[in-house]
Amino acid sequence: MKLPFAESFKIKMVETIKKSTREEREKWMKEAKYNLFNLKSDYVFIDLLTDSGTGAMSDKQWAAMMEGDESYAGARSYYNLKESIKDITGFPYFLPTHQGRAAENVLFSAIIKADDMVPGNSHFDTTKGHIEFRKAHAIDCTIEEAKDTTIELPFKGNMDLNKLEEVLKKYPKEKIPCIVVTITNNTAGGQPVSMANVKGVSALAKKYGVKILFDSARFAENAYFIKTREEGYADKSIREIALEMFSYGDFMTMSSKKDAIVNMGGFLAFRNEEDWQKCQMYNIMFEGFITYGGMSGRDMNALAQGLREGTDFEYLETRINQIAYLGKKLDEYGIPYQRPAGGHAIFLDAKKILTHVPKEQLIAQTLGIELYLEAGIRGVEIGCLLADRDPETRENRYPELELLRLAIPRRVYTNNHMDYVAAAIKNVYDRRESITKGYVILKELPIMRHFTVELGPG
Ligand code: F0G
Repeated sequence: MKLPFAESFKIKMVETIKKSTREEREKWMKEAKYNLFNLKSDYVFIDLLTDSGTGAMSDKQWAAMMEGDESYAGARSYYNLKESIKDITGFPYFLPTHQGRAAENVLFSAIIKADDMVPGNSHFDTTKGHIEFRKAHAIDCTIEEAKDTTIELPFKGNMDLNKLEEVLKKYPKEKIPCIVVTITNNTAGGQPVSMANVKGVSALAKKYGVKILFDSARFAENAYFIKTREEGYADKSIREIALEMFSYGDFMTMSSKKDAIVNMGGFLAFRNEEDWQKCQMYNIMFEGFITYGGMSGRDMNALAQGLREGTDFEYLETRINQIAYLGKKLDEYGIPYQRPAGGHAIFLDAKKILTHVPKEQLIAQTLGIELYLEAGIRGVEIGCLLADRDPETRENRYPELELLRLAIPRRVYTNNHMDYVAAAIKNVYDRRESITKGYVILKELPIMRHFTVELGPG
């Protein structure tokens, strides 16, 4: 008999989670102003808000924490992390930061000025926020197919090279501080970018004299998809693939809370010394001295170990199989989501589920609220709220896709939890015709409003 798949870890410590009643959830949701970010985590049974900083560290990571060196300058933990980053990414220079957006803040302070153009494949919201905050523009060059959730493509996170070249042709290189390649493409559904596409971007970058920045939060998951889906990579290790990917970049920003499986941390890394030096001042001002920048020694140690574990094939296979498992359950129930299943999450196609809710009443957010009320599961809206208003016209931006992301934390939930999630979605799906009203905005901030927005029934 062929042996079935089984997880590549066993569980050493557990945390209790509690169910609640629908009446309780209705009260809590109302008190939270219908913003899922405002809910106490104790009111959530299965928390799929994010895969960021929510993973379970290993015994080896906890052991590494005990050996952390808390010296202000030149700590052993810094050199440990430097070696791990060099081994896995090939970048010889780096600056620690407290998380990914802090790395963006430091780098963009050094390289982006007003009216610059920053092309990329679906810039993540903090990346876009940091670009627009500096009065520069993020230009999305993701392939069109990513907007159709029904198309099955192995590399649906790719950059459209024609769109990219148009931008590079239109603006002088002085106005383009970098091209952002996000691996995996979170906003488009945790979809990977192929090595062929990275090479194509690199050829254009060279032709027009522009630098490449990898937004690398989920680079190991991206490498896994290259290994398992792209011709010529089946026999290469995850590490070899990661090294090859990064060899096309000039610098990288990293939210270590994802593929490096730590609860807090980030960094930026550089190919050349000059770029590293240019960023040092901002790192010292915003984060901390260049050998700790926002991280304690123990956290740098856990990160150094996490980078190694996060690029282990068996770990990645376990991780990505779990997302695929949930996807398969949803297939059985006929529920529409961004196909194929992503690396870190399932993205439900809210427009196809809640067909009676008008776009002005926040379709994906409405689905998120319904799923919470149904079963205490928390997802996150990737739709109109996240898209923010246009910085010039202040009009709401209505993206083509309204998605509810269910991000799966690393090494945290079992497949029984996935079965529970799938059943809850099916229950909402079965009563979808009766959901005709959504929610309206009562109060919002000018940038990244989704975190704190207050809503009322529409
Ligand atoms: N880049 C990508 C692709 C991300 O997904 C994130 C964070 C960041 C940068 C910023 O990193 O949170 O450490 O400051 N994504 C989280 C998420 C928040 O839920 O997808 P950070």
